[in-house]
Amino acid sequence: MTTSTQAASFAAGCTAFRGPLLHFLSEPGLGTPDPGSYSYFTDGLLVVADGRVQAVGEAAELLPQLPVGTPVEHSPEGLILPGMIDTHVHMPQLAVMASYGTQLLEWLETYTFPTESRFADADWSAKQSKVFLDLLLAHGTTSALVFSTSHKVASEALFRAAHDYNMAIATGRVMMDCNAPDGVRDTAEASYEESRELIARWHGTGRQRYAVTPRFAATSTPEQLTYAGKLMTEAEGLLMQTHWAENKAEIAWIAELFPERASYLDVYDHFGLLGPRSVLAHGIHIDDADRARLAETGTRIAFCPTSNTFLGSGLFDLSSARGADVEVGLASDVGGGTSLSMLVTMAEAYKVCQLRGQSLNPFQAFYMATLGNAKVLHQETETGNLAPGKMADFLIIDRAASPIQQLKHSAERDLSGILFDLMILGDDRSIRRTYIAGQCRYDRDAAQGAAHAGLSV
Ligand code: GUN
Ligand code: ZN
Repeated sequence: MTTSTQAASFAAGCTAFRGPLLHFLSEPGLGTPDPGSYSYFTDGLLVVADGRVQAVGEAAELLPQLPVGTPVEHSPEGLILPGMIDTHVHMPQLAVMASYGTQLLEWLETYTFPTESRFADADWSAKQSKVFLDLLLAHGTTSALVFSTSHKVASEALFRAAHDYNMAIATGRVMMDCNAPDGVRDTAEASYEESRELIARWHGTGRQRYAVTPRFAATSTPEQLTYAGKLMTEAEGLLMQTHWAENKAEIAWIAELFPERASYLDVYDHFGLLGPRSVLAHGIHIDDADRARLAETGTRIAFCPTSNTFLGSGLFDLSSARGADVEVGLASDVGGGTSLSMLVTMAEAYKVCQLRGQSLNPFQAFYMATLGNAKVLHQETETGNLAPGKMADFLIIDRAASPIQQLKHSAERDLSGILFDLMILGDDRSIRRTYIAGQCRYDRDAAQGAAHAGLSV
């Protein structure tokens, strides 16, 4: 597709980015992509002013309309993409990544809860929040729905750091008042009160949004789950995030803990935690009744492929979810997941689909990581593509960041081939620059050799 869209006039002081450019306008479908679902310009131009997209289209059409002297950054061999979005990731679990030899419940006890207990310390939380956001940017992720910990200071620190970067982050204080050790276990009342305080302080402040965050049904009493449901009724636009149906031992435990409920999903349903603003991570071991209830309530699933294979949890059934009209987002789930890169996540999603006899074409994968995930998180009016008026969160991609990609890089490669090479062979090296609201927040070449803590520019 080569149509262009443009605003009536460009503001003085705008900046422009020229090069191949792709963004999605709607869902491309699982088979041959609907050609109306995306715009691809082999020589495109993105015009940005005041943090927002002013215009996007053919360079030849738009360049003559720029005010004289407008800086134009040209990446003829690159690819301009909207920033990628992660629908489920844990800020305090960077150091938990690559923990050897366990499945979910033992992994939580052995590695995760001890690591999260450090976040009672406000200074540690502030440092780690900044490292986490710098790493998201270095991996091409410009927005995310994020778990923090059960310490109010950890959510506070993450909101503060995201606000300083003007980055759209949704997060919330983790609620977990049972079946967890000292250091991370809270009480139902404290989780409710502190969530309310954080909502009052941060929900709707700049680009920040609050997500009510009961960890999973195993670590919350009925009293705490009741509070979580109540919180969802107390402010407009809140999200809800939790874990669901990830591991068979987890599911058996939930059946013991909640014998009066018909299913794991019914636990969340009972406490008023399903709905279009709820994102349930995993949803691997589920049935058609679950899918029907998810579709009926508009509840979303975050598909976390690198986590699901690493923790040996199982293979998510994407095609049954899609067939039942369940909204599915793509997510890294670091630190159960093994990479913050949504490119790596797409590659693993493709492999999970292959193991299930399904497929994930590159158009669908890039749609999911951008506009699809924006819709899952209800932020598609501001992010997800580069339509005029949206926030200018975007990436300059290096299509030949590794020797193998250089070898495959050629002018003859069609768009599908370009995207498939990127999703299968790409990673954080592929991210040359990351822009948030028109500002460069990560520059790979400037950051090379810098310590991780100093990645942002
Ligand atoms: N279930 C409950 N807590 C967690 C967590 O931190 N990670 C994953 N993958 N699953 C969970
Ligand atoms: Zn998780």
